[in-house]
This record gives sequence, C-alpha cells and structure tokens, in this order.
Amino acid sequence: MQVIIFDDAQQVAQSAAEWVAELINKKSNPVLGLATGSTPISLYQELVNKHKAGELSFSNTTSFNLDEYLGIDETNEQSYRHFMNVNLFNHVDIDKSKTFVPTCNNGENPREQGLAYEDKISQAGGVDLQILGIGANGHIGFNEPTSSLSSRTRIKTLTQQTIDDNSRMFAADEFQPTLAMTMGIATILDARYVLLMATGKNKAKAVKDMVTGALSAACPASALQLHENAIILLDKEAASELEDQDYYIWANKQNLKINREFGLYHNY
Ligand code: GLP
Repeated sequence: MQVIIFDDAQQVAQSAAEWVAELINKKSNPVLGLATGSTPISLYQELVNKHKAGELSFSNTTSFNLDEYLGIDETNEQSYRHFMNVNLFNHVDIDKSKTFVPTCNNGENPREQGLAYEDKISQAGGVDLQILGIGANGHIGFNEPTSSLSSRTRIKTLTQQTIDDNSRMFAADEFQPTLAMTMGIATILDARYVLLMATGKNKAKAVKDMVTGALSAACPASALQLHENAIILLDKEAASELEDQDYYIWANKQNLKINREFGLYHNY
C-alpha cells in the first residue's frame, strides 16, 4: 500500500484527479471504476474543471460504478446513476452508453445480473483504475463487514450503521433502500490500480483498520493489503489514528524523488 497524507480534502481530490487524468491521457481506451458518496464529489469537480479547461477528454473512456441501490430506478434522484449524471457524466464528453452501473430491477435474476456485470468488465479489458471511498465501518463499495474477500458482484444487505450513515442523504419521509448490488471484493481487487480516498475524522478508525489491521472480513477494505497497486489518499484527519504517519510522509518524499529520477511508471 502506498499511503499518502495531504493537508486537506481539496489536496486529496486534486491528487486523485491527477491520477485519473494521467490514465485517461495515457491509454487509448481507459476503463475507470467509479465510486459514489460525498468523498469523491470534489474529485469529480476537479475532473469537470479539467475537461472545461480543455485538458481532459472522456470520449474514449468506459466506466463501471461500484454499486447501486435496489428498489429505486435510475430516474430516482437517490440512485447512484443519477448521482453520476449530476456530478460527472452530464458535464463531460463521456459516451453514456459506455458508463455502467450494476443494476438489478424488479423481476431480474440477481445472480445473472451479477455475472453479466462481471462479464461486461472483462469484455472491456478490466478496470485500469478503481476509485474508492471507505465506509466508517470499513466497507468498500457496499461490501459490508462479513463480506467474503473473494466476493463478486451480487446483492448485499446494508448494515444498520451504513443505513444510519447514509440517512443524511434522505428526507425523513423518503424510502431509503436497505439492499444494494455491489461489485465484490475480488472484483475490486482485479483492478490494475485502486485509489482510495478518505477524508475526515469519522474515517480515521476505518483507515487504521484498513492499513495496519488484520486482513479480515471485519474490515473489508483490509483486503486492499493484498493488492499490488493500492494507493491510499488521506487528509490529516483521516490519517490521525495511523501510528506511522511520519514514516508515510518520509516514504512519500522518497517516492517522489524516485519518480523524478526514473519517471512515473504505471502499468495500466
Ligand atoms: C456509500 C458507498 C461507498 C462509499 C461510502 C462512504 O455507502 N457505497 O462507495 O465509499 O458510502 O461515503 P462517504 O464518502 O459519503 O463517506
């Protein structure tokens, strides 16, 4: 894991945007894995700004979102499809027919839908760079604690903690889903690079468990310890429970020196 600690959330977003821009500018048919939640919104704003400044085109990009609520359709303002439209897709030149969200509508077989999503990712050549946030309970996508570390796209029942955490997005009398389709942990680990963003004090414990805790289904994000190219972008607050903060800051300086001398090498 490469843990990089920034002064604030804006710097986290700017760094994540540089990673995305590098991939898109380098590869002819980039495949992005996308996340929802409040954390990546500032990343999407940075990407929209780059696009509007003429620095970034999404015309050849294919995207796969991590997850989607069940029980609401894509026209519902609470759907993650809607979230992606308003935060990114409507403001850039991406071909929406190449943007995918794992859905399972009424009457559809969830197993078949999960397998079909996995197939679509494979047919696109796999995800080059997967953007991730983290739940306060250590979930990635909607892989809640107890998720199999080998899981694939499927339905997950949300924990009460996640339902409570996300209730701030819903009006008091609004239907709040308790089920979701989500890429599995093995699906996420298949990406060539994973870029996890975490900001704020309420993520500090989950970040500590992910980076230095036991590899365990109790903290699904700890599975990223097994990934060859896991980049963890943190603000100071999210990093505040890490014991080795000075080491990460020092090691990052060495990495920057190595990159300056030998050039960046990302094996997309
Ligand atoms: C949701 C999403 C996750 C996201 C998490 C944290 O439950 N399924 O992908 O990482 O919430 O969200 P936030 O960034 O709002 O804290």
